[in-house]
Amino acid sequence: MSGQILIVGGAGYIGSHVNKFLSNAGYETLVLDDLSYGHRDFVKWGKFIEGDMADPELLDDVFSQNEIEAVFHLSAFIAVGESVQKPGMYYENNVSKTIALLNKMVEHNVNYFVFSSTCAIMGDPQYLPLDEAHPRNPINPYGWSKYMVETILADYEKAYGLKSVVFRYFNAAGADPDAEVGEKHEPETHLIPLIFDAVLGIRDHITIFGDDYDTRDGTCVRDYIHVNDLALAHQLGLEWMKEHQESNDFNLGNGAGFTVKEVIEVVEKVTGQKVPCKRGPRREGDATSLIGSSQKAHEMLGWKPRFAKLEEIVATAWEWHRRMRSQG
Ligand code: UFG
Repeated sequence: MSGQILIVGGAGYIGSHVNKFLSNAGYETLVLDDLSYGHRDFVKWGKFIEGDMADPELLDDVFSQNEIEAVFHLSAFIAVGESVQKPGMYYENNVSKTIALLNKMVEHNVNYFVFSSTCAIMGDPQYLPLDEAHPRNPINPYGWSKYMVETILADYEKAYGLKSVVFRYFNAAGADPDAEVGEKHEPETHLIPLIFDAVLGIRDHITIFGDDYDTRDGTCVRDYIHVNDLALAHQLGLEWMKEHQESNDFNLGNGAGFTVKEVIEVVEKVTGQKVPCKRGPRREGDATSLIGSSQKAHEMLGWKPRFAKLEEIVATAWEWHRRMRSQG
C-alpha cells in the first residue's frame, strides 16, 4: 500500500490544486503550510497541519506520527520583482528552509521528493523553446534560489540516496474547473488575476511592464500552463520515480508563447469586456521570452497538457476569480 503524501505549501495556489488532484486520484494527503501566503479554506482535502516547514520539532512529529512516503514541496516565495528587492528573504525561505526540510526527511528515511522549480533558472534564453539541457543562468534571486535547491538535490541523492523529481513550471495559470480553489495571492502580482481585477473595476487599470522588448509587439512573452496539468504531472512524476528508483527533471509548459498584450486580448474575449491598460517601465528581473519544451515529460511520463488553448485556461481562471471576488 502507498504511504501518505506530505504537500508542503498545499494551501497555496498550485499546492491546493495538487492536493485536490492527488486526493481525487486516491492518495492520502497531508498539507503542511504556515499560511503566510496560503489560505486555510484552500485545504479542502486531506489533513491540515499549520506550521513552519523548517520547524524541527514539528517535522519530527509529522514524520513519526504518519506514514509519509513522499514530500511535495510547493512552499516557495515566488515574486520575481520582490526577490530582487529582498534577496535575503528569498534565500532564507526558498533555500535554507528547504535544506532543513530535506535533513528531516533524511533523518526519518523519507526517500521521495517532488520539487517545484521554475523556468526562471534558465535566465534569458539562448534558444527557444527551453528544454532541460538549456544552460542555467538565473537573472534574479528567485531563479537562483530554485537553482540552488536543484543542485542541493543532486548532492542529497549522491550522499543519502534521496530521489527527487524536479518540475520547472512555466507560467502557472487557470483554476480548478469546479471553482473550489483558484489563484489568489496577497498582494497579487501575477498578470492574469490583475487583469481580471481591472475588468471588475477593483483596480483602475493594468500596467504593462515594458513595451520595448524585442518581441512581436514589444511586450514580454510567457508560456501559460494550466494548474491542473501541472498537478497531473506531479502524480505521473511520483509514480515514475517510484517505478524507476531514479531522480529526474522536467520542464512543464504548453510550448506556445503569448505576449502581455495578447493575454490582455484573450481576457477581453473571455470576459467580453475592455481592459483598461497603461504603459509602464520594465519590471526588474523579467526575462524577455520564456517558452517551454515539454517533450521530455511527454516521452518519459506520458504527460500531455489537457488545456492546450489559452482561452480555455483563462476561462477557468475567470470563473473562479469572479466568484471569489463576488464573495468578498
Ligand atoms: N506583467 C505586467 N503587468 C503586471 C504584472 C505582470 O506587464 O501588472 C507582465 C510581467 O512583466 C511578465 C508577465 O506579465 O512579463 C507575467 O508576469 P507574472 O508576474 O504573472 O509572472 P512571471 O513571469 O513574472 O513569473 C511567474 C511566476 C514565477 C515563475 C515564472 C516563470 O511567478 O514563479 O512565472 O515564467 F518562475
